Amino acid sequence: MKEKIIIFDTTLRDGEQSLSNSLTCKEKLKIAILLENMGVDIIEAGFPISSPEDFQSVKLISQTIKNSKICSLARCLYKDIDIAAKAMKYCLQDSFRIHLFIGTSNLHIKHKLKKNFDDILDMSIKSVIRARKYTNDIEFSCEDAGRTEIENLCIIIENVIKNGATTINIPDTVGYTVPLEFSKIVKEILNKVPNIDKAILSVHCHNDLGMATGNAITAIQCGARQIEGTIGGIGERAGNTALEEVIMTIKTRKDILNFYTNINFKDIYKTSKKISNICNLEISSNKPIIGSNAFSHSSGIHQDGVLKNKKNYEIISPESIGSKKKNFNLTSRSGRAAIKFYMKDMGYSEKTYDLNILYKKFIKLADQNGRVFKYDLEALAFLKNSYEENKYYELVYLKICTLYNSGNKIIIKLKCGNKVKKESVSNTSNLIFTIFDLIKRISKIEMKLKKIILKSKTNRSRIVNLVNLSVIYNNTNFHSKKITSDYMKSYILSLIIVLNSIRKYKIVRKKLHNV
Ligand code: KIV
Ligand code: ZN
Repeated sequence: MKEKIIIFDTTLRDGEQSLSNSLTCKEKLKIAILLENMGVDIIEAGFPISSPEDFQSVKLISQTIKNSKICSLARCLYKDIDIAAKAMKYCLQDSFRIHLFIGTSNLHIKHKLKKNFDDILDMSIKSVIRARKYTNDIEFSCEDAGRTEIENLCIIIENVIKNGATTINIPDTVGYTVPLEFSKIVKEILNKVPNIDKAILSVHCHNDLGMATGNAITAIQCGARQIEGTIGGIGERAGNTALEEVIMTIKTRKDILNFYTNINFKDIYKTSKKISNICNLEISSNKPIIGSNAFSHSSGIHQDGVLKNKKNYEIISPESIGSKKKNFNLTSRSGRAAIKFYMKDMGYSEKTYDLNILYKKFIKLADQNGRVFKYDLEALAFLKNSYEENKYYELVYLKICTLYNSGNKIIIKLKCGNKVKKESVSNTSNLIFTIFDLIKRISKIEMKLKKIILKSKTNRSRIVNLVNLSVIYNNTNFHSKKITSDYMKSYILSLIIVLNSIRKYKIVRKKLHNV
């Protein structure tokens, strides 16, 4: 029989405390609803004593969320416990959880709390008793457990369970332990604490040495039944265990991990995207499970292998986490197999083009642009002068006057074939959208701006501005990237790349399909 792993999310507490701008009550509620919909068992909504805003958001969340248990953090101090209980008093669930914590390592006891072990034991017991006045669901965390002497850890755990703690959490607060060592701690607790069967054992790992997911999985294998973490692994310093990694490891390695979670896997991608947007945190492209490259195969050997059989290089499908089916990136590392695949995918049989010629042209373009897209392949295959066509639209003149208090004035001249066309506007406030509209007017191309990323990098004497954009035309995404020393110039030049791509796309359609 498979055993359940309880998923405890602390995005709103450990995650939020690491953000440079704290979240508003409304934003926290949105995150809580996303977590609830994804099937998280317990949501740690905040640390109510830390600020009136945090108190309010815990209150709001506990009055809104129906299907996940709400939990609040409290130090082993009566005022913290009372206020945590007050914030969750009107929760919709039958009960709420109070999460108590206290430093148990000698380092924390002596140099942070300035106390001795007996004081800590006493505070722990008294706090559990106090929290029991409000709820039967009490989690107790031995902060810095990863560096706590095992005997001390066991004494505290035994005593807090005796007084009513129902979940015992073992945090590797500073991400110090390695999997074998962490598993030994979990096993020793299970073997040495006589009443451990009266509580659920939980782990809370930090990622300072990159061990968070490894330690969490090891802990499950040794007997832990609750995993704490955050979406995308956000959290103090290098972050917490990324819950999506643990959840998908349990699912993917069901051959050796006889467990299940309540998570709706198909919500993972959407939830992580939305949370990273709300938190204003970019997900790095190589992040496991949710990074934009997590399912992209780049090298020719891998692409060929996946085309022969997905299982060669894919252990999880993007669809299983609710992401779109990903094809591979076409770059100079791609081989003929990938090109053939994309051409076939667009409906072109190999008889209609010469693969060797197309491959040569493709490599030249890939060396120039980095990434090549389907529409580029079509143009390379079916337009004789595909390279010259890149110069149909060119920037001839650009003037932007930014006038404080009275908006901007913009003049743009574009070469369109052998004509030069001009558009201008005065008194406009949003440069990005206005320039987009001016360019649309000149080119008469009905495109929509889908996404724009602006990045500036400086060193002492130089500044470079990258613009990466996507536009939609005729239900097709067109992409471009440009780096110059001026971000407006990068923006307009990337728009012009896109204009030329759309024009070529239109010519190919007309030529081959007469549309
Ligand atoms: O990392 C940690 O020790 C914590 C505790 C409050 C559980 O976040
Ligand atoms: Zn933590």
